[in-house]
Amino acid sequence: MHNPSEHPLLSAIVDDLATRGWSQQSLFLPDELSRALAAECRRRYAEGELNPAGVGRGAGQEIREAIRGDQIQWIDPGESDACDGYLDEMDGLRQAINQGLFLGLEDFECHFALYPPGAFYKRHLDRFRDDDRRMVSAVLYLNEGWQPEDGGQLRMFLDGDREHDVQPRAGTLVVFLSGDVPHEVLPAGRERLSLTGWFRRRGNDPF
Ligand code: OGA
Ligand code: MN
Repeated sequence: MHNPSEHPLLSAIVDDLATRGWSQQSLFLPDELSRALAAECRRRYAEGELNPAGVGRGAGQEIREAIRGDQIQWIDPGESDACDGYLDEMDGLRQAINQGLFLGLEDFECHFALYPPGAFYKRHLDRFRDDDRRMVSAVLYLNEGWQPEDGGQLRMFLDGDREHDVQPRAGTLVVFLSGDVPHEVLPAGRERLSLTGWFRRRGNDPF
């Protein structure tokens, strides 16, 4: 995939990643595209296509719900114009990060996530012991009219333990180094939609 009209914020994101390991852009996507993505996430949820997200390996249902309560569905190219539009933007970002930071990012995996009211995701890192391919996390929020009292903030723990909260507002994109930034999702008082993804490097060949 190649995006001919490069997004104007790519170099700002790459600079932020290089200097402090994370970036927040509140106007990353036009309202029209983020509305189309939100509608698609809601439609998929209504049709029963989202499923409870897993945690690591072999965790039982109760353990999972004590850690994270979101429902997810992975997306692939060719499913809709809206999703393809977003995947194109992320491919542009992947190329910009590779040019600026030499991370050798090979692909981007991404899922819709819906947190029903009351759901949360406890503090964690996005790089798993059994999958160290995830290098950079990218979360796009799809919620119009979100207010601080709705909860559901992404809380990042920066430089040790300084807290930085992000409101999950439509059009906001947060990008951070997957192995460096612990974070959590605070309980939301209303349904909370996002597209969450990871840029991955090539896997290590076991031989
Ligand atoms: C995740 C995650 C953050 C968010 O899915 O790993 O941390 O704000 N999501 O949705
Ligand atoms: Mn995470």
